[in-house]
Amino acid sequence: MCGIVGCILKNDDDVAPILFDCISKLEYRGYDSIGLATYSENKIHIKKDKGKIKEVDDKLNLTDMPGNFGIAHVRWATHGDPSKLNSHPHVDEKRNVAVVHNGIIENYLEIKENLISEGHVFKSDTDTEVIPHLIEKFMNEGFDLEHAVRKTIDIIHGAYAIAAISTDEPDKIVATRKDSPLIVGIGEEGYYLASDSPAILKYARDIIYPEKGEIVVLDKNGVVVHDEFDNVVNKEIETINWTPEMAEKEGYDHFMIKEINEQSTAVRNTLTQKENIQEIIDDIDDIQRICFVACGTSYHAALSGKYLIESLAGVPTDVILASEFKYSAKTLNDKTLVVFISQSGETADSLKALDVANETSKTLAIVNVAGSSMTRRAKYVIQTQAGPEIGVAATKTYVAQLTSIYLFAALLAKDDELLKELDKVPDYIDETLESKELIKQLSKRYNYTNDFFYLGRGFTYPTALEGALKLKEISYIHGEGYAAGELKHGPLALIDKRTPVVVIVPPGDAHRKTMSNLEEVKSRGANVLAIGSASDDALKTKASDVISINPEVNELIAPLVYIVPLQLVAYYITIEKEYDPDKPRNLAKCVTVE
Ligand code: G6P
Repeated sequence: MCGIVGCILKNDDDVAPILFDCISKLEYRGYDSIGLATYSENKIHIKKDKGKIKEVDDKLNLTDMPGNFGIAHVRWATHGDPSKLNSHPHVDEKRNVAVVHNGIIENYLEIKENLISEGHVFKSDTDTEVIPHLIEKFMNEGFDLEHAVRKTIDIIHGAYAIAAISTDEPDKIVATRKDSPLIVGIGEEGYYLASDSPAILKYARDIIYPEKGEIVVLDKNGVVVHDEFDNVVNKEIETINWTPEMAEKEGYDHFMIKEINEQSTAVRNTLTQKENIQEIIDDIDDIQRICFVACGTSYHAALSGKYLIESLAGVPTDVILASEFKYSAKTLNDKTLVVFISQSGETADSLKALDVANETSKTLAIVNVAGSSMTRRAKYVIQTQAGPEIGVAATKTYVAQLTSIYLFAALLAKDDELLKELDKVPDYIDETLESKELIKQLSKRYNYTNDFFYLGRGFTYPTALEGALKLKEISYIHGEGYAAGELKHGPLALIDKRTPVVVIVPPGDAHRKTMSNLEEVKSRGANVLAIGSASDDALKTKASDVISINPEVNELIAPLVYIVPLQLVAYYITIEKEYDPDKPRNLAKCVTVE
């Protein structure tokens, strides 16, 4: 979704280079357009246009703007096409107020009609534009900027993180949020606002997390937060342990390949959560059912959770897409543990479901971003330790989520052998990454097609779904994951010699049956790319191509290791097609609308 930043410097230097630097770090949140607004000499200066940051900067020279405070925005279009007019910041007709917004104002049409009837003139198709007009209206009625923002949020419905500046009350930025993320950074040289911490890590790591409805005022002397009753709130300052370097490419061509390579570290660091997870398990006794809730890649991690918990601990476990959750809510009770999985901790569908689950059940959130909304609303939290993930397609956060779930299942089942095996997973991942070059060469042979199937059985069925999702997200090739045994009930009709089928076939109970499924697709002419153990000689004779996994891992551990070659296949096919894997079209890293 969109990204916003704001900054006010303590000195009189121009803020535009810093705003530009910060907002560039949020490009993964939206890349339809970019815009900056700064203030100097009684004037709001705005530069904005549609396009990726680099294209717009080449055209408009975004770092060349006067003034020591301002706001900036990257857009992921919801209301109105990507265009210059629809780009943020938005202003009132006199340009006295400029606003950036992330979220959706659900009742904007009704507000817009009223404002138009009062004489306001609108230029864009966005829902956001009502905000500067409302602020202007209330400032004209005598409210200061802070209270005009307060009056505005009494009227708008929906999700928002907003930052506003005004010529009538210069030298401050006023911000607020509801259901969209916003953090406040306290730095040496100034004060910062951002949708997400990678934006400001270089400038500030002491963070305040505003709650829904709180109003934040930044000026060169500091940050003041008021609650909805206008009382000053003494906010806790939390220090982020992520470093600015973690959010840089560090010599890699793309964030995605950097993050794929960081997966052993993500697993190793997440394994340190064992004690915390044991404490949670000790506290949640008398649980009769577990229900996982998630979206996208996190949903695939959740699905692995079902296989692990049911087979190891025997606790009935369901997996529900967050957007479908409310239809199951009546089955929850105080004996249900509802587990939310999210890399961002800000996904709107998951947050809505979390609020519903909190009413009846114990809730646990497995989240990568510290301080995110989900970590504040769930009863228990497991923090995955993947570090900042910038590539839109999740990779290292996925293996970190899986690691937490494996730990949870192993501790619940008191399975010491599995716990010991988990310690070896970082090495297994690193060994698997050694086949990178081979996978790159192989991928060149598989970018000719428009359709791919991915088959897995049992523990690796979710791996097949995730492998297919990676491919479609970044290469725009249709990839479909199937339970290996299910293919013959329909999709087999689509298989011919132009259809590559990726078959995930680690050693274990499911091996024999998956091999039969492999034969079924092969005899329909499919090009079979198999992923299996290096010692599996039979596989080498059956498949067209084999990616051999050297560490001899069985099907129980396979999801943590076999996903690596699938991520690499998606990545290299995308590179071959000359697409940008870090910023796939139409997608965003953090989906803050339902
Ligand atoms: C978006 C991202 C996906 C992610 C999904 C769920 O679609 O592009 O990578 O899996 O949201 O996000 P979450 O932050 O809840 O894991």
